[in-house]
Amino acid sequence: MALVNTKKMFEMAYKNGYAIGAFNVNNMEITQGIISAISQEKAPLILQVSRGARAYASISYLKSIINVAVEENPDIPIAINLDHGDNFETCRQFVDDGFTSVMIDASSLAFEENIDITKKVVEYAHPRDVVVEAELGQLGGIEEDVVGVDDVSRHLADPAQAVEFVERTGCDSLAVACGTSHGAFKFKSEPKIAFDIIQKIADKLPGYPLVMHGSSSVLKEFKDLINKYGGDMPNAMGVPEEAVSKASKMAICKVNIDTDLRMALTAKIRQVFAEKPGEFDPRKYLGPGRQAIEEMVSHKLHVLGCAGKASECM
Ligand code: G3H
Ligand code: 13P
Ligand code: ZN
Repeated sequence: MALVNTKKMFEMAYKNGYAIGAFNVNNMEITQGIISAISQEKAPLILQVSRGARAYASISYLKSIINVAVEENPDIPIAINLDHGDNFETCRQFVDDGFTSVMIDASSLAFEENIDITKKVVEYAHPRDVVVEAELGQLGGIEEDVVGVDDVSRHLADPAQAVEFVERTGCDSLAVACGTSHGAFKFKSEPKIAFDIIQKIADKLPGYPLVMHGSSSVLKEFKDLINKYGGDMPNAMGVPEEAVSKASKMAICKVNIDTDLRMALTAKIRQVFAEKPGEFDPRKYLGPGRQAIEEMVSHKLHVLGCAGKASECM
């Protein structure tokens, strides 16, 4: 019974003040690195697949890899989530493909349209025991030197709207724009997370699980290796881990991480190629990448507070 939806995970995460790591998978090595970590740390897990991942690897390959991971870890609850579904049809496909969670991201549409499409996905997913994550507000940095207060508040999730949105759509969790953004260049200067927005939404929706996207920290170790070995991302900056930890103790029950996986893999591959220019056996550079992912994810599970929590989420 290890393939589950996120209901119990979120219930326990909310109650006990931690968050579940939602890690993006695109191939076998990334998945194996994550799985080794959660298996050692006994942590509940959300694996997620984006439309880009599906286009790259195909759903049947990714699903088969995930199925093996689930079978080999019967003591770990694992949910599989569609990350950033763009319309009803995409969500329907992933539900039909056996995903236990889908995200409908209609946050770029007008509020009423976002409600309509989210409601439609909920109506399809719930009878099939699949949970739905929706999004309110738009991801982006809070940079007071770049944008004025009006622009900032326009992009962040609106607490009053959040209540109406959840009540009218019936979605199971809500991704709230709180100052983070996707990728490796989240902030131009000091990182700022709108904890006040998270708290205001939590106050209005007690017990309700919130989601933080764009939660990678751009770890110094990997950034330095990438820049040392021919890469070019000197200004990369992520969400400090203390901020991720703080959010995880609040109503944030799901923390999305992709960039940190990509950087760990890239850093190790660059290092192998630089130190052994004659290397051409993929196992010799993908292997160290996979190992780096395992160690990084193990560390993250402690940042999120979900290490050791697998059994209570079953
Ligand atoms: O939402 C962003 C994730 O990092 C997935 O990225 O769409 O390039 O697979 P992707
Ligand atoms: P990062 O780019 O910070 O890893 O965010 C990933 C994410 O939010 C996936 O939905
Ligand atoms: Zn995201």
